[in-house]
Amino acid sequence: MIEFILLSRRGRTDGSFRSLREAGRLDVVYQCILFAFFTSGAIRRDVIFHAILGGPPRPPLHLIIDGRELRGVRTDERTWESILRKVLSGGSHPGIYVEKKSFQALLRSFSNRNIFVLEEKGRDIREIDFGADPVFVLGDQIGLPRKDEEFALRFGTKVSIGKKPYLAATCVDIINYMLDLETKRKV
Ligand SMILES: C[S@@+](CC[C@H](N)C(=O)[O-])C[C@H]1O[C@@H](n2cnc3c(N)ncnc32)[C@H](O)[C@@H]1O
Repeated sequence: MIEFILLSRRGRTDGSFRSLREAGRLDVVYQCILFAFFTSGAIRRDVIFHAILGGPPRPPLHLIIDGRELRGVRTDERTWESILRKVLSGGSHPGIYVEKKSFQALLRSFSNRNIFVLEEKGRDIREIDFGADPVFVLGDQIGLPRKDEEFALRFGTKVSIGKKPYLAATCVDIINYMLDLETKRKV
């Protein structure tokens, strides 16, 4: 499986919000979900997306979206606003789970995997062999806090897509594209 971890430091941790943008920038989480899973007309079943939500009222919350089980989804923001509101209010949706977990605890659980921390000043991603079952760590609209970046780098390698600061969702799309070019990707 290919896994993406987004640290959304202000992402709201309950379902009482009017819009994703006002919910501590859950729109950034939605955009990453879009590019993590959707190609034209299909869902990537070999992807698991994680977001650690650090906003009020009950941080940190771990949102998990498992492409193997994901059903009943579309690409539009309104659909995802209603799914996220439901799961953050205690409801359920196929392939989507929430649990109480911190960024550092999640990273520790991946310590035996190939972890890549996305950052502009990292090693050129084109020279990297992702190996089997890679895990990619991304910051939100602000970026990764230094202490979390340093913690993630205890387990992984800092990699760069280029000198321009891209949207987190763009990074997810580029990584999926690069993996599509590799023959190792099965689906
Ligand atoms: C909108 S960017 C944050 C930009 C913020 N100014 C910063 O300094 O981190 C969101 C995330 O995308 C990833 N990212 C953006 N541009 C990148 C690049 N050129 N190479 C690697 N990762 C990048 C990083 O993980 C970053 O935390």
